[in-house]
Amino acid sequence: MIEQDRPMKDNHYYVTTPIYYVNARPHIGHAYTTILADVLARYHKVEGQEVFFLTGVDEHGQKVQQAAEKRGLDPQKHCDEMAPRFFDLWKTLEIQNDDFIRTTEDRHKRIVQAALQKVYDNGDAYADEYEGWYSVAEERFITETEKQSGDFRDVKKIKEKNYFFRMSKYQQRLIDHIESHPKFLQPDNRRNEVLGFLRQPLGDLCISRPKSRLSWGIELPFDKDYVTYVWFDALMNYISVPGWGSDEKRFQEWWPVSVHLIGKDILTTHAVYWPTMLFSLGVELPQSIFAHGWWMSGESKMSKSLGNVVDPLGLIEGYGVDAVRYYLMREMVLGLDANFSPESFIKRYNSDLANDFGNLLNRVSGLIGKYFNGQVPESGQLTAAEQAVVDTAGALKNKVMDLVLHMRIHEAIEETLQLVRQTNKYLEVQAPWKLAKEDLPAAGRVLYTSMEALRVAAVFLSPVMPEKTRQVLEVLGAQGTDMTWGGLKSGTQIKTHEALFPRIEVEK
Ligand code: MSP
Repeated sequence: MIEQDRPMKDNHYYVTTPIYYVNARPHIGHAYTTILADVLARYHKVEGQEVFFLTGVDEHGQKVQQAAEKRGLDPQKHCDEMAPRFFDLWKTLEIQNDDFIRTTEDRHKRIVQAALQKVYDNGDAYADEYEGWYSVAEERFITETEKQSGDFRDVKKIKEKNYFFRMSKYQQRLIDHIESHPKFLQPDNRRNEVLGFLRQPLGDLCISRPKSRLSWGIELPFDKDYVTYVWFDALMNYISVPGWGSDEKRFQEWWPVSVHLIGKDILTTHAVYWPTMLFSLGVELPQSIFAHGWWMSGESKMSKSLGNVVDPLGLIEGYGVDAVRYYLMREMVLGLDANFSPESFIKRYNSDLANDFGNLLNRVSGLIGKYFNGQVPESGQLTAAEQAVVDTAGALKNKVMDLVLHMRIHEAIEETLQLVRQTNKYLEVQAPWKLAKEDLPAAGRVLYTSMEALRVAAVFLSPVMPEKTRQVLEVLGAQGTDMTWGGLKSGTQIKTHEALFPRIEVEK
């Protein structure tokens, strides 16, 4: 595998999303990371790899406690109500995660406590009295410079005893690791950002909160007056689920993770806190951490606190699950920010899905119905015109998989759409509706070639649009993910179908 520093372990691909706070409903930003993980998982499955895809929710900490208080609910009750909003949405979005972790589950809490005990026993955790600026919104102590920047809300001075993790001890080791593993942090600008951050001395990390101030968390195993800092708790999900400390065999099978997908807002916690925690625990580091950009609404990040979020359910209701998945994957260049607007959604839908992809199916199935009683015609003797289409389709596998491995999903989709567009043009030029009147086998050859190109395109788009591509393959009577030319069988009866993506008419 090109994007990583060593070959993937035994053909295993382990991918994670951040676990989302249950302080609000999921929005397009959360849906994006989860769909991305699903799309990557599905591409790797099509390639014949064993996949483990983990997502979940982050249920402890101040944000969640406050959200529960606001609703006048006990935090556990609040979490029990919120968690289904996430996994129900993932179900609606056809997400095929292999597990869903809730950090209030016993299987997780036990492991967090075991990890804390290990860190404490090996001398990497100590108690100290600390006075400093604390940002309630960020749930962490901030430096004087950070306070001066004015970027932090709800800042107050706090003096209290806490437990600290000797993060500073691992600073040089982390720098060495990042420098010797170029693909560990991606994309490159994020890697540079972290290396820049690590040029300053790294402090130790406060990993506890006194229960007197925050009770909603996992109790420290060595001091019952404290709960665990929510990030130490949350990050542990990546190893608690595959079996660290509980099922060594399974853990060996899946760890190290192939890629942690994160938004750029949580880079420091993943690229600095997490690896140093793993150093202390004696666990190998992730193979890669990939930070994507933000979905923006105009000039600002889409976020709950700004109140400018798009509800995925509304979009799904209007345009269907696959159109939403397609738009999010096609429109964002991984690593950069992208702008969400209803206009760009409709434009993309109409051009790629209605005009190019959906239309190809409509035209070809209509013509096969008309001239061949709905039966897939013989492929016939290929001419140069067909060969050009066959060549594009044949080259697609390597191209698409290579782009996926390089996290260039939007280009992998675009390559596939190129085949669709080329086929539409080929149809136009060959005009089988005219050919049918003078040379029926020639018309059959053109229709076979077009339909087979559509089948191949559907297979390559299936990780992005599982539902619609399944429909296409059903219509063609060619289920399965065979990527080689010739999967479509002559004589097969084509099924009738509705328009795949009806055009969205915009009122002027
Ligand atoms: N609970 C922590 C993560 C712990 S992981 C061990 C957290 N949760 S969150 O609910 O705030 O979700 C953060 C993630 O949601 C981001 O990193 C990103 O993946 C996604 N997004 C939230 N808003 C986003 C956008 N506007 N655009 C793209 N993704 C964003 O932080």
